[in-house]
Amino acid sequence: MIVDLSLSMKGKRALITGSSRGIGRATARAFAKEGADVAIHYRRDEAAARAAADEVRSYGVNAILCKAELESPAEIDAMFDAVAEQFGALDVFMANAAATAFKPVMEMKDYHFDRTYQVVLKSVLHAAQRAVPLMEGRSGRILTVSSLGSRFTLPNYAGIGSAKAALESLTRYLAAELGPRGITCNCISPGVVETDSVRFYAKEGFETFKSNVISRTPMGRLTQPEDVAGLALFLAGDAAAFITGQVIGVDGGLTLISYGPDGR
Ligand SMILES: NC(=O)c1ccc[n+]([C@@H]2O[C@H](COP(=O)([O-])OP(=O)(O)OC[C@H]3O[C@@H](n4cnc5c(N)ncnc54)[C@H](OP(=O)(O)O)[C@@H]3O)[C@@H](O)[C@H]2O)c1
Repeated sequence: MIVDLSLSMKGKRALITGSSRGIGRATARAFAKEGADVAIHYRRDEAAARAAADEVRSYGVNAILCKAELESPAEIDAMFDAVAEQFGALDVFMANAAATAFKPVMEMKDYHFDRTYQVVLKSVLHAAQRAVPLMEGRSGRILTVSSLGSRFTLPNYAGIGSAKAALESLTRYLAAELGPRGITCNCISPGVVETDSVRFYAKEGFETFKSNVISRTPMGRLTQPEDVAGLALFLAGDAAAFITGQVIGVDGGLTLISYGPDGR
């Protein structure tokens, strides 16, 4: 069997949620550079989404804009209706957007939990059910995005961390069920990525958080959105055709390191 090991995305069509900023935008850029048409999804910040779409088009491919609140199944449906109408089919769906209220466990209300689970987990199930029919007859790829908080405890991270753990599991179930239809499903688990959201999470503690993480990262820096985009590009391409149901880290080795006898 001869497998095409190029990273080319020429002729492919991708939808990336939360691609107006951060990891999603870097992935949209990487896909576009390799020849894919990209649907840029956002919730509120239209100017950022337009800038991301313009950047995609600068590589000579098509971009469409989709505004959708992922808490709303009706808005998810409208997003897929627009993608179906304008792209006709889909090769890659990357469930990247996330949001939560960062709270200690004992202060979390039901609605904090419900809203986080809707955006991080339930929207992905709904979206996957809409994406799969658009992948019929193609080598479809579903990518989800987890975080270290699925396995490790971080302050104020219980809502999204537990939802990400369920998302990793959902990815495996999707992989098992969709493999016979030629669709792979994998989950990317980034380290601490230098984006708006990590600054929002750490607030005034950001610089301390950053230096603590760097001191425990063998590669000596924070994860950048482009590091995550590189893994997404590989998983979306033909070279990754036989990888499915995996949670794959991209963190410069941060999760390798435990405390040593010298206390560091
Ligand atoms: N940054 C990190 O350190 C880190 C680490 C590990 C994993 N991750 C994961 O990586 C993914 C991307 O993170 P990021 O830091 O790149 O994100 P980001 O910069 O905060 O961007 C978030 C994106 O999601 C959209 N969004 C947020 N809430 C939404 C909602 N309710 N409905 C629809 N869209 C919504 C935003 O659109 P608007 O701007 O229009 O609202 C934006 O496009 C997330 O799944 C995150 O959990 C991040």
